[in-house]
Amino acid sequence: MLRRIREYQAVFGEFRRTFRTTGTLLPSSRPLSQALSKYVRQGSPSSGGDTSARRILEVGPGTGPVTRRIVASLRPTDQLDLVELNGTFVELLKGRFDREPPFKSVADRVRILHQPVQNLLGEEPYDLIISGLPLNNFEVDEVERILDVLRQLLAPGATLSFFEYIGIHRARAALSGRAQRRRIREVARVVGRFLDEGETKRDCVLTNVPPAWVHHVRNVKAQHRAADAQLSAD
Ligand SMILES: C[S@@+](CC[C@H](N)C(=O)[O-])C[C@H]1O[C@@H](n2cnc3c(N)ncnc32)[C@H](O)[C@@H]1O
Repeated sequence: MLRRIREYQAVFGEFRRTFRTTGTLLPSSRPLSQALSKYVRQGSPSSGGDTSARRILEVGPGTGPVTRRIVASLRPTDQLDLVELNGTFVELLKGRFDREPPFKSVADRVRILHQPVQNLLGEEPYDLIISGLPLNNFEVDEVERILDVLRQLLAPGATLSFFEYIGIHRARAALSGRAQRRRIREVARVVGRFLDEGETKRDCVLTNVPPAWVHHVRNVKAQHRAADAQLSAD
């Protein structure tokens, strides 16, 4: 209970201090965290499936509500990278991996990277990416850049899961001036184009404040490119 209160205090404090990048008043609920991490559970030891090693990236873990679900389903050989911009959240996460049993038990396979995700370009691709970034708070060129980086970080056939609050575009547009409305419309267009490239599933999570869509996008283009390259090599 005390831990939850500390998490809520940290998110609320950072929301007031850095609204644009924190993007939320509350940590994600358990149902939202579960929907975001559903592909980590596929083939986890408890589900008795595939046991091959995976590289997993969580972008914007914040205080770690989604991380908690991810670490519970890691396979013994999985590697998990957490990339977080905010130093307060980075310190809080380090403390969780030092002290809290479910986190501590996988700490040797986890890297906490204190930097913007944009700086990860050039890392080896990931099999799964889970993002908590508040894309609708960002400038259009920033969203384009971030989605481009995420696209390049996804291995062929890999899945990116991320969320958007339901009705966020309409709600923000109703409360904003003309320039903000244009920005929100453009961000929605950029995200929509990205979803058109490979959204395979969308989950609706009503039990979160606010309710959210969870998008799951598969890197099909790179998968086709890899298959074509294999065919020409054969
Ligand atoms: C909406 S909060 C999500 C926190 C947590 N995943 C959750 O679901 O409660 C967004 C998080 O993304 C982080 N963030 C924002 N921009 C980022 C960037 N460019 N690179 C990495 N993390 C970023 C923020 O600091 C914050 O922790």
